[in-house]
This record gives sequence, structure tokens and C-alpha cells, in this order.
Amino acid sequence: MALAKTEASGGSGLLPEVLAFSSSLALDRQLLREDLVGSLAHVTMLGRTGVIPKADAQAIREGLIALWKRADAGKLELPDEEDVHMAVEVELNNTIGAPAALLHSARSRNDQVATDLRLHVREVAANALRELTGFIQEIVTRARAEKELILPSYTHRQRAQPISLAYWLASYGAAFLRDAQALSFVLEQCKLLPLGVGAISGTSLPIDREISRTLLGFEGVTLNGMDTVGDRDFALDLLYATARFFVHASRLSTDLVDFTTQEFGFATLSGDISMGSSMMPQKKNPDVFELIRGKSGKAVGNLVGLLTTVKGLPGGYNRDLQEDRASLLETAPLLLGTLSVLRLSLPRVTFNAEKCRAGLEEGFTQATDLAEALVKKGMPFRKAYMAAGALVRRCQEKGITLRAATLELAQSIDPAYDASILSVLEPAGAVARKASAGSTGPAAVEATLTVIEAQARVLAERAAQVPKLSVLFTELERATL
Ligand code: ARG
Repeated sequence: MALAKTEASGGSGLLPEVLAFSSSLALDRQLLREDLVGSLAHVTMLGRTGVIPKADAQAIREGLIALWKRADAGKLELPDEEDVHMAVEVELNNTIGAPAALLHSARSRNDQVATDLRLHVREVAANALRELTGFIQEIVTRARAEKELILPSYTHRQRAQPISLAYWLASYGAAFLRDAQALSFVLEQCKLLPLGVGAISGTSLPIDREISRTLLGFEGVTLNGMDTVGDRDFALDLLYATARFFVHASRLSTDLVDFTTQEFGFATLSGDISMGSSMMPQKKNPDVFELIRGKSGKAVGNLVGLLTTVKGLPGGYNRDLQEDRASLLETAPLLLGTLSVLRLSLPRVTFNAEKCRAGLEEGFTQATDLAEALVKKGMPFRKAYMAAGALVRRCQEKGITLRAATLELAQSIDPAYDASILSVLEPAGAVARKASAGSTGPAAVEATLTVIEAQARVLAERAAQVPKLSVLFTELERATL
């Protein structure tokens, strides 16, 4: 028995234009593996519970397994149907014949697609979490090796205070750690199985959702069918975690684009990650970091797009939800591709200690240290601020750095200045003296790195617990009825 193309849509012959307009196959064929695994679990449950005869369940299982293997070998050409779910059902029918008609018992494409999407989001979030925690560990290791290099920090893009390169690196380590936490939250949001709620209100057939739950590695089943079929929160959470990662990656990129300009001169890119110009032979452009910044627009757009699609929908399933596919399916290559290039690129950025140091001195970045040294001698901060500011201005007038200021010059501004106060003008000392938690002081940076490293390790373990689709398939293949 061959299923007619339009049978799933109620059998009323659709206009070809309408079928083309409503088809999601071009995108959701990417969910083939998820769909096959979900169907394998469903039919195994149907067979075990006696909803369909065991012999038919076995025939369907073998058919689905054959489809997976053909897909794996690149030999599965999906028929041109409305979506991947129908395409699989039709191809199953082409493969095993009549029993294929039993697969969709007690199931709707509404709970089917919700299941496929959760399996997909769970796998993407776990893969991204593994990559991101790996990147965080690399940042920590690099930071430990860069404690001696001192450079200016910036507020309002004006030189602010001396920091170590380790501190700069740790700042992005801390931000990416929060993104890893957001990805771990996505996994939390994916832990309930949608399958078994049917189109909206469940089924009167004697299914057992617990069986499907165990087979697909979920921690529980969703609480309400009507909510389940209209829920894309787990997808939104992935898009949010992705957008936020990109916001951080784009800020890191902007720092590096700036640092590698001739104007800053703090860092250089190795030849294998920087690109030339087709016209200007001298150029060495930071395209990689510009592209990461550019792609962040996509990530933010995907989040806003899906939020807008979901907003204002009535309860239950609505076909609008099919429009989640583009933003969601784009996310895995966008996120994983960027992470992998970032991991390759950061080690290929080298910092120039001399230039960084010159930036510190030219920027009078030790001015706060001068004020704090006066405070330590008992001067109120506001007064010390004025005295330090006056010395900075005097040096600027004379065209010298703070370190070139003589004691005589300083005392002509305020007699409280003495040699020990001026000794704080050595920039490395400005970093070494910082003692507060979360500061650029070496002990504080090490404490920060230890926390980041430990938390990243816990999150990496969380990612490792997520069953991979290929593993689920192998277990389902072995499962008995
Ligand atoms: N292709 C649809 C989607 O992705 C599957 C669900 C269709 N459900 C329906 N009642 N037409 O959302």
C-alpha cells in the first residue's frame, strides 16, 4: 500500500504551490536521525505495551534500523513529502509495506516534532558545552602563563589602570563560564520527554510513556500535552545561550581587532589566521575576529526571530511553530563552527610586552595607585585624588611620564609626596599590589582561575552525561520487545 502524498494532510489534494509553501523537508531533513531514533523508541513501546502486535512492531523496527543504516552510508534518498516525519513514514512503507501504517498509532506529528527538536537541542547543547568548557580550560591555562605581561585596561575606551594579561583573559573566561552555565540550563530544559502526548490531549490507547522515556534517555515525561505541543522554550533557551556566547565572543573579538591595529600595537596575529587585502599588499587583516563579530548578529537575530514567532500564539500546536526550524538548525553550525575557530585563533595571538608597557606609561595609568599611596599615608581619598590629578597634569604639560616626575616636582604640588609614594609608579607594582578579591593582583587572579577551572570541569561532566544520538540508536537497535 502506497501512502498518497497528501494523506497526512487529510487526503484532500493540495495545490502543488501550497504543498511547496508549507513543506519543511528542505530544512527538517536535518532531523532525520532524531526522527528515526524517536520512532524506534515509539514503536518499541507500542510493541511492548501490546498497542500493536509484536510481529508488526518488529518489522517496523527492522525497517527503521535499515533506514538509519542507509542514511549513515549516504544511501537514503528521502521522498519528496511535506516534512521529514512524512518522508520517513512513506519510505518505511516503501521498505516494509503494510506494517508501516501502524507506526503512527498514538502519535501525532505535534509530539513527534517536539521530541525530534528536544533530541536535537539536547545534542547541540551538549556538544557546545563540551567545546566551550574545553575553550575555557585553554583560556585558564594561557592566563596562568601570562601573569607577568602587563597592559592597560580600558574604561570608555580610554586607558584606565594596569592589569595583567592573565586578568584580561580571565575576564573572558568568567563570561564564557556563564555561557557554559546557560548551556547547562538548556540541558535542564530538555530533560522531559514530549513523546506520548499525541496531538494535544493524549491518547486512549494503552501506551506507556515511561518506556519511551527510558529508551530515549530522558529524566521524566512532560506534564501537560497542550503545553508540550506548543512549547519551544528549550529551543529559545539554546538560542539565548548562543546569542549571549556570541555577545561575549564579539566583545573579545573587538578587543583583539583593536589590539592588533598599528595604533594599539599590543598584539599580532599569526599568518595562518590573518588575511591579506586583494589590493593593498601591506595588509594583515583580523578577518576571523571581524567575522565572529559579524556572525553574532545572526545569533541575536535568530533569538529575536523565534521569540517573535512564538509570541501571541494561541495554546497548543500551531503551524507557525514550523518556522522555528531555520533559526534552530542554523545554530549548531554557527555555534560549533565559531567555537572551533576561536579555539584555533586565540593561541595564535601573541602579545608584545614592550608595546603594552609603553601604553601604560603614556596613559598615566598609575594615577589611581598614586592616590591610593597617599590615602595609605592618611590623606582623605578626595584630596589624594586631587593631588594625583595635579601631578598628572603637570607631567602632561612637561611632556613626561609619571615615572619621570622628580620628588621635587611632586612636592611642589603637595608636600605629602615622598619617595615611597613615588615608588608605586612602577606599573608591575600596581598590578602586584592589588589584593582585593576579583582584582588583577596575582593571588586574586589565581583564585579566579581556580574557580573558573573547577566549575568548567563540573559542567563538562554534565555534558558528558548526555546520551549521543548514535549511542541511543545502538541501544535501541539492541532493545527487545
Ligand atoms: N512539519 C510540522 C512542524 O514541523 C510537523 C507538525 C505538523 N502538525 C500538523 N498538525 N500539521 O511543525
